[in-house]
Order: sequence, then structure tokens, then C-alpha cells
Amino acid sequence: MSPARVIAFANQKGGVAKTTTTLNLAAAFAEEGHRVLCIDMDPQGNLTMSQGIDPDTLERSMYDVLVHATSIREVIRKREIDVACSSIDLAGAEIALAATIGRERALERALKPVSDDYDFICIDTPPSLGLLTINALTAAHKVIVPVQCEYLSMRGLIQLQNTLSMVRENLNPTVDIQGILPTLVDSRTIHAKEAIEILEENFGDRVFASRIRKTVRFAEAPVKGMSVLRYDPSGTAAKAYRDLAKEILDGAA
Ligand SMILES: Nc1ncnc2c1ncn2[C@@H]1O[C@H](COP(=O)(O)OP(=O)(O)OP(=O)(O)O)[C@@H](O)[C@H]1O
Ligand SMILES: [Mg+2]
Repeated sequence: MSPARVIAFANQKGGVAKTTTTLNLAAAFAEEGHRVLCIDMDPQGNLTMSQGIDPDTLERSMYDVLVHATSIREVIRKREIDVACSSIDLAGAEIALAATIGRERALERALKPVSDDYDFICIDTPPSLGLLTINALTAAHKVIVPVQCEYLSMRGLIQLQNTLSMVRENLNPTVDIQGILPTLVDSRTIHAKEAIEILEENFGDRVFASRIRKTVRFAEAPVKGMSVLRYDPSGTAAKAYRDLAKEILDGAA
């Protein structure tokens, strides 16, 4: 059995659909029969909540995994996909880890024992390029970058690429961008079209062919503790992430 493919979802800009993409792409992989673990590396705990788990009720969380080397199995809850849960205490992990040796590799170390149990490990990251995100980039084989096309920020993407180069030089030589995903696309506006064109001019075939359009389903589903694939299985929102999963699975074949 080959070890899991580890994908980090990163963009230091907030609200670009990192969490939404982590969960729904993971659910789409699971629908295809893959064994999937999602890791919540964001102290906001949005991924944890979006599978119907209350972060305030957790006895142990990713904080303990990263800081106290608690086994990751102890913080995994089985839902649509398996979720390694987080709560607000994770915000203290950056400080707690700061003075430790190998602080960038805490997540990589934690994943090793479960790597053979899954086909995919999908890591949601916070909207910053701090130590939690660096841990995710160090543990990952690939990075998926969701980009909101309405407020396109090329400078933000360049900053992310610089961080990734630094990680490649010092920590994880083979990590690379799997693709840039246009999210929250409002296909009625000319602005969205132009934004995608600029993205393609700058990043070429690194931009996924899949696009995630704006729909209220993405806000509704997490309230019910579900992915959009379960909440509205035949809707366009679910189809968008199934198409993305196919694009990634076919590309890897
Ligand atoms: N395609 C979409 N259409 C409409 N709303 C969406 C879509 N994708 C995500 N959203 C909504 O946009 C908001 C931000 O999404 P999400 O939480 O996934 O972003 P994020 O990048 O993880 O944010 P943060 O940086 O705070 O972690 C959420 O309310 C989510 O429900
Ligand atoms: Mg998020």
C-alpha cells in the first residue's frame, strides 16, 4: 500500500474558500472510493465545524498533536471523511513551537504513523504564512491555491510562491503547486472573466480547468455539518468539486 498523497490548501488571503475546497474536494475523493483524512490546521476551526463538530467540546486537538506529540489518531473524528480536529487553542501552537527544534516538521512527524491508512490527506491552513502554514507546506507533496477572482491579488500569490521556494530550499525539496483554483466565480461579471484571464496569462496551465462558481449552497451546507456533495448531491456546487477531483485524479494517472 503506497503512502497517502498529502495536499495542503493555502492562500494567506482570508475568505478565498480554502476550507470549503479542502472539505468538498476531500468528500469528492471519498465518493470515488478513496480513504481521506482532513487536517484542520486553522485555529478558527472552520473545517472542524463544517463537519458538525463543536471545537469547544474537544478534549484534545491538533494543538496537542503538534505541541505535545499526542497521537493524531486521538484527535480524528469519523464523519463524511475523517477529520483531525482543531480549536482556538491551536492559536498558541506557533508560540509553543517557536523555541523547539524541528518546529517546522511537527505536522510531518505526526502524519507518518497514519500515512498508510489513507489515500489522501488534505490539510486546511489559516489565512497567514506563519508556522502552522509552514508546517502544512513541509508535510505536503502538493499545494492547491484557491483564489477568489473578484479581488484578485497577484502580489499575494507571489508572496505565497516565495514562501514555497523557501520551504523547498530548506525543508521539503519536492513540494510544488498542484494547481491554482478560481473560486467564488461570478460568471455574470466581466471582472471575473478578466481576472481569470490575467491569472492564466501569469500562471498558464497551473490554473485548473475547473472553476468554482458562487452559490449560496456553500454557505448553507456547513451549517448542517455537511459537504455540498451530501447537502445537495445533484447540484452544480457538488458537480464543480467532483469535476475538480476528476481533473486531479486523471492528471495523476
Ligand atoms: N463558491 C462559493 N460560493 C459562495 N460562497 C462560498 C463559495 N465558497 C466558499 N463560500 C463561502 O465563503 C466564505 C469563505 O469561505 P471559506 O471559509 O472556505 O474561506 P477560507 O479561505 O477558508 O477563509 P479563512 O481564510 O477565514 O480560513 C464562507 O462563508 C463560505 O461558505
Ligand atoms: Mg478557512
